[in-house]
Amino acid sequence: MEVPPPLVLKRPLYVPSKTLMGPGPSNCSHRVLEAMSNPVLGHMHPECLQIMDEVKEGIKYIFQTLNDATMCISGAGHAGMEASLCNLIEDGDVVLLGVTGVWGHRAADMARRYGADVRYVEASFGRALSQEEIKFAFETHRPRVFFVAQGDSSTGIIQQNIRELGELCRQFDCFLVVDTVASLGGTEFLMDEWKVDVVYTGSQKSLGGPAGLTPISFSKRALTHIKQRKSKPKVYYFDILLIGQYWGCYGTPRIYHHTISSTLLYGLREALAHFCAVGLKAVVRRHQECSRRLQLGIEELGLEMFVQREEERLPTVNTIKVPFGVDWKKVAEYAMRKYSVEISGGLGPTVEHVFRIGLMGENATVERVDMVLSILHEAIQSIKLRAVKAERS
Ligand code: GLV
Repeated sequence: MEVPPPLVLKRPLYVPSKTLMGPGPSNCSHRVLEAMSNPVLGHMHPECLQIMDEVKEGIKYIFQTLNDATMCISGAGHAGMEASLCNLIEDGDVVLLGVTGVWGHRAADMARRYGADVRYVEASFGRALSQEEIKFAFETHRPRVFFVAQGDSSTGIIQQNIRELGELCRQFDCFLVVDTVASLGGTEFLMDEWKVDVVYTGSQKSLGGPAGLTPISFSKRALTHIKQRKSKPKVYYFDILLIGQYWGCYGTPRIYHHTISSTLLYGLREALAHFCAVGLKAVVRRHQECSRRLQLGIEELGLEMFVQREEERLPTVNTIKVPFGVDWKKVAEYAMRKYSVEISGGLGPTVEHVFRIGLMGENATVERVDMVLSILHEAIQSIKLRAVKAERS
């Protein structure tokens, strides 16, 4: 039997224009989109390697690190999580997961696959983890690796005590892995000063780049440990000793590890260039001001933020309680149908409980905040009215 060419592929490509105000991706700027339409380069061509070097410098800036082992994993944020754990964990290692939402559990699932003995320290619903809770868990479990998300996009919680966690990990001879996929750009992050061993972030959130390349950095201490492993990391694709040679991190000749997407690289380079031109502090300030404005607007609309304590609210992904009797899905559908604006529902523990509004990159502006507030209000009112009418009829 011959399989015919599919009819759908005879039609022209159609991509609608949407304003992405969910948990990410955010919209890419014209600069980023234009960059990605440049000609494809070979993955070992000197011009491609040069762009990789430039991207590496940008990543060092956004993480505030001088680590040699700074590069990208070809894959979305999940690939950063995999690479962190895959390189650090050996069979039987105790890995402690800080849980403030869905990401601690996702990391646990991965850690188990790499042979870890997985333990948890779980925050109360809607709260960040306190230093005392984490310290108690360290004393109980004596972990080799501790994972925590600085910002959990499923709950909109920020973990503010990364500096203290860096100290704690050194005291317990433990490696600190921090997921900043949703938080970087929305809050301060100082890798070297805070003694973080591994960090990765999302290219497609506050950076405003394309998804598919994940910036990651390993401390000298983590790198030494990885070099002394008894066994090789379990996944070839995530082996940062090999990927780092491709990225020219270790002063050794470049090797072919995999075929990087040159077009994604151009997009990420331009996103980083913009981020660096504006400056870290200014980017963070803008994200925080936008979130503050959104929170005030939410209160004025008579709605309630999911995270009760202001200092535990993630500025980039804002979680708002779904009012009683309102179907969140219908609200999100209304916003998309009428305005082509994405408002998201919850994830994991917050499914059905919250709306998630992302204020990231191009969408972290006063105009976008006011727009999304007005759309959210209109959508909720309209869905409530429809429900009343349906009840009467
Ligand atoms: C993705 O990061 C999400 O939170 O849905």
